[in-house]
Order: sequence, then C-alpha cells, then structure tokens
Amino acid sequence: MANIFINQDLCIKCNTCATVCVTRIIEKATVLAFPEVLESNVEKCIKCGHCEAFCAQKALTLNFLPREKVLFAPREGQIASEDLAIYIKKRRSIRHFSSKPVNKELIDGMLDVARYAASGGNGQPVKWLVVYDTDSVKKIAELTIEWMRSIQHTAHPLAAYVSVILSQWDSGLEPICRNAPHLLFAHIPYQEKWYDPSEAVIAMTHVDIAAPSFGVGTCWAGFVQLAVAGYKPLRDFLDLPQGRVVACSMMFGYPVYKVTSIPRRNPVEVIWK
Ligand SMILES: Cc1cc2nc3c(=O)[nH]c(=O)nc-3n(C[C@H](O)[C@H](O)[C@H](O)COP(=O)(O)O)c2cc1C
Repeated sequence: MANIFINQDLCIKCNTCATVCVTRIIEKATVLAFPEVLESNVEKCIKCGHCEAFCAQKALTLNFLPREKVLFAPREGQIASEDLAIYIKKRRSIRHFSSKPVNKELIDGMLDVARYAASGGNGQPVKWLVVYDTDSVKKIAELTIEWMRSIQHTAHPLAAYVSVILSQWDSGLEPICRNAPHLLFAHIPYQEKWYDPSEAVIAMTHVDIAAPSFGVGTCWAGFVQLAVAGYKPLRDFLDLPQGRVVACSMMFGYPVYKVTSIPRRNPVEVIWK
C-alpha cells in the first residue's frame, strides 16, 4: 500500500520530502515521476510526518491518520522569541490549588499537545493515567506517606529526608500532592533490560509548559514518583495495565496565586568547543 499521496497538481518536484525523510525511503522525483515510497520500503516508515510537515506546496499527505493532518498559514502559530521566553520563564511549580475540578476538555487539550512530543524513532510509547477523583489523589498521598514511614528508620538514602516530610504531614500539612485536585501519571512499556523514562519526561514537560496557557497550574510529584517505584500497595492502587510502568507524575489544578514576576536562576554554564 502506498505510504504517501502526492497531489500532482501541487507538487513541484523540489524533493524536500525525500531530503527530510529520516529513514530515506522516499524516491526522489524525476522528470517523469513524482516522489514515491517503494512497496519494499513501506514498513520502514516511522510515520514522523516530516515529509508532509516540510512540504512547502502542501502537496503530500502521509497515509496515516490523513484526516488529522493540520495545515496552517506560513506564520500561523509563530511566537516571537521574546514572548516565548517570557512565557516559559513564567512557568512555576504551583503548590496551592483551588478545589475546583479542571474541566475534562481542558485536560484532553493539554494531553493533545503532548502527543507531539519527541520520541525515539517516533515510537510514541507514552500513555497517561489521569487520577481525576480528588479522593483518589488523597489516597495516593496517604500511600506515599505510608511508604515514607516504612523507610524512615532504615538505611534507605532518603530516610532522613522523609522524616521532615512526615513531620509536616503529622502537623496537618499536605506536602505530597499539596491538596491538588488531580494527578497525572505518564506510563511507558516495562522493559526488562533497561529503564529509560526520557520520552515520558519529555511528554510530561509538554504538559507542564502547555498548562498555563490553559489556565492550569502544575507541579512535578517527585515524592509520589519515588513511592510508586518503591511501594507495591501504591502501584496496586494505580492498577496500570499489564506491562506498563509509571515514569513520572504531576499534580495539577487551578492555581490560587498568579505569577507576577520571574525569579532569579543561576547563570547559564556552558562549554563551547
Ligand atoms: C523531578 C521533579 C520532582 C519534583 N517533585 C516535587 C514534589 O514532590 N513536590 C513539590 O512541591 N515540588 C516538586 N518539584 C518542583 C521543584 O521543587 C521546583 O521545580 C523547583 O523548586 C523550582 O521551582 P519552579 O519549578 O517554580 O521553577 C519537583 C520538580 C522536579 C523537576
């Protein structure tokens, strides 16, 4: 089955599609022929869509979810670098949340953005678990505390650190999920030989960056993540499908406070060669 469709009225045979194809499977156009993928190469396509994304003529459609193709005008979606820099620098970890639930369509919108995150070989291994129910978020915080108590007086490298968190919890604070109404988990396939959460972290970072534009506040849930890794009762509670493991987690909800300035950070340290 053909992998790419060429609109012959639009194609000018510039061969950009063949040049940008990462797997180099597009045969270049000739005087007599338009670009094509030979049948023997179809399986090598990783469906990254670069051939259609870089086609200036909009002449090419990938034979993969063709209805999802999004066309845009040349400058559409372009953000001035200064605006983007401020938008990104304004992102803050949010630790005070309204109890008002986030509209599910907004959550879908944020996850939709994350579909476009980079992944090795365009493998798109990341899937999501949204803990929408606030009582379940509370239960996850409790299980995380249970895990902390189980390592508190052991040789675990975090034993001293969890004592601080436990004393906060015991004094009535909620330092685990910070009373966020929802939790988001990115999960990936379990690999026996290695564990590489990079693609989940990249996808979650997309959510983290996109969230403020949806009016949503986020904070990476590192304690929950540690507990997921170390405490089976918590993994059982999450009940992921067989063969999937949590790679990272994030609390989210509507923020109580607005960011009004950008805090200081260390200067960039860079080695140029
Ligand atoms: C992997 C990771 C885990 C984190 N875990 C927590 C957490 O469990 N609780 C929390 O309040 N903040 C957590 N944070 C937020 C950091 O404390 C925060 O990013 C840092 O203080 C800088 O603040 P900013 O994100 O507003 O720039 C985490 C951040 C990262 C990247």
